[in-house]
Amino acid sequence: MTELSKGGHRHLLSIAELGADGIEEILEVSDAFVEVGRRSIPKVPSLRGRTVVTLFAEQSTRTRLSFETAAKRLSADVLSFSVDTSSVKKGESLRDTVETVAAMGVDAFVVRHTSAGAPAAVARWVDASVVNAGDGWHEHPTQALLDCYTIRQVLAERAGRALEDTGVECFVGLRVAIVGDVRHSRVARSLVLALGALGAEVTLVAPGSLLPPSLEGWPLSKVSYDLDAVLPHVDVCYLLRLQSERGAGAFLPSVREYSAWYGLTSRRAALLGDDALVMHPGPMNRGIEIADDVAALPRSLVLRQVSNGVAVRMAVLFMLLGQGQVGTGGSGPGLLPTLGTVVGG
Ligand code: NCD
Repeated sequence: MTELSKGGHRHLLSIAELGADGIEEILEVSDAFVEVGRRSIPKVPSLRGRTVVTLFAEQSTRTRLSFETAAKRLSADVLSFSVDTSSVKKGESLRDTVETVAAMGVDAFVVRHTSAGAPAAVARWVDASVVNAGDGWHEHPTQALLDCYTIRQVLAERAGRALEDTGVECFVGLRVAIVGDVRHSRVARSLVLALGALGAEVTLVAPGSLLPPSLEGWPLSKVSYDLDAVLPHVDVCYLLRLQSERGAGAFLPSVREYSAWYGLTSRRAALLGDDALVMHPGPMNRGIEIADDVAALPRSLVLRQVSNGVAVRMAVLFMLLGQGQVGTGGSGPGLLPTLGTVVGG
């Protein structure tokens, strides 16, 4: 997490800035919040008196609700701001709007925007922490973190090991295929950066037209156009939504043809190894990138990803705003020793 803004607040704007240590620390803190989520009253007082605003300038179901649930479970006050129903529609600039909301006394902004870089701009304008909840084609860091969390959790369960004994070494050599509309996907970029930092072997599988124009800076093992050839050799098959609202259709002869070559049908899913996992960030286009019956298989982790998302976002908000703030340099007071008292009881 970086310090950028006035006031020296910390932000989570990209996976790129976290590094393996930063990712590991967030995954470890998330363990405690997964445990909180299992309690009969899944709420802790850690952020009592703090105010978190969700500022969404693009459609969202799970990310917005997940952040709001996370903030509420930490006892923060939550303000929910939709650009569509705000004075932005009367011509107010995003900057004036954000500064107006900030003037009410806000500790953190969770920002989703159609433009890459919008959360970083908000971080420069306000005296508060900012979390990127997805900006254009750029990044969606908390999605990548919850995906890594989910993979680590399943690997720990399968090995019969406690989560706290499962470090990020479990990612080294893990074979992950990321399939589909990589070109328009902030999820893919953040996930490739996270998995690359943790030592996984990532293969992008897509038609050439749905790959980014340049793969410079993407820590990849390889690129393939042939999903059937890749499936038998992966531990995780991560499907991306075809981003029609970003014009993905224009990059394809037809959605039907895309689905015929790159959709995970039951026939294709049968090519996967017995232990291979299927993941999708949602929302799913059933029948396009994933078949109905594949989404329902026990190996499909889609809903587990959503559940873990709340705990991971609690960890991020807590690390940005809680008492035990930490940096990634290891020079701070450290969070983990105080975590027990913060989430205890
Ligand atoms: C993703 C997004 O909005 O970037 N969804 C999500 O946050 N879970 C992926 C998508 O929309 O395809």
